[in-house]
Amino acid sequence: MAATAVLEARGIRFGYPGVPLFSGLDLALGAGEVRVLLGPSGSGKTTLVHLLAGILAPQGGEVRWQGRSITGLAEERLVRLRRRFLGLVFQHHYLLPELTALENVLLPGWIGGRPDPGRGRALLEAVGLGDRADHPPAQLSGGERQRVAVARALYHRPPLLLADEPTGALDPAHAAQVLDLLVGLARQEGAALLLATHDERLVAGLPGWRIEGGRLVSLGT
Ligand SMILES: Nc1ncnc2c1ncn2[C@@H]1O[C@H](COP(=O)(O)OP(=O)(O)O)[C@@H](O)[C@H]1O
Ligand SMILES: [Mg+2]
Repeated sequence: MAATAVLEARGIRFGYPGVPLFSGLDLALGAGEVRVLLGPSGSGKTTLVHLLAGILAPQGGEVRWQGRSITGLAEERLVRLRRRFLGLVFQHHYLLPELTALENVLLPGWIGGRPDPGRGRALLEAVGLGDRADHPPAQLSGGERQRVAVARALYHRPPLLLADEPTGALDPAHAAQVLDLLVGLARQEGAALLLATHDERLVAGLPGWRIEGGRLVSLGT
């Protein structure tokens, strides 16, 4: 038996009214593993990320974080668990405009109690923005904002990072740069990463799965 998976989905069933999507999807991600989730627009990537994050509840099957089922947990417990366990990066950065880059990175620390500015600065350095700590998002480029969002997602040392089209709003050069930083930083921090994207060229060479007919097919690498 392998060590307990950081993330495991078993027999996931889900669809929207008139839109069947998953009819028995399985997935497992081990500690520190980096995997991509490929599929064209409309194939269900965002829906699956939301199911894995506990934002949506499956209609069948269950999702486990480090062996613990999150399916059916009360929202309050799920929220607390998510704060410890999960980092999220979306296509839109969701930075707070009135805070500086550093303050945005430190946000998860405020929620948990007392933030650690040293940790925040180290993460900003790691994404190449050490000299932008005091800039508000309005004074950063799109790629820089997304790098701040990556730093923020890792602030609380989550064992799992879910990223949904994190480079979808960027031009190809900046998309590649943000992707490299995201993958590199997840590896450095030892976080498992599931990266959903429609952009095959961007993630060429990375292992993972393709959504096909509501199931996951391993990418031949
Ligand atoms: N809230 C919703 N209600 C109904 N249908 C939805 C909803 N969200 C997404 N869908 C449909 O589910 C399918 C998968 O969507 P989505 O998970 O966003 O795919 P992707 O992220 O791969 O583009 C699409 O056909 C989309 O139109
Ligand atoms: Mg999507």
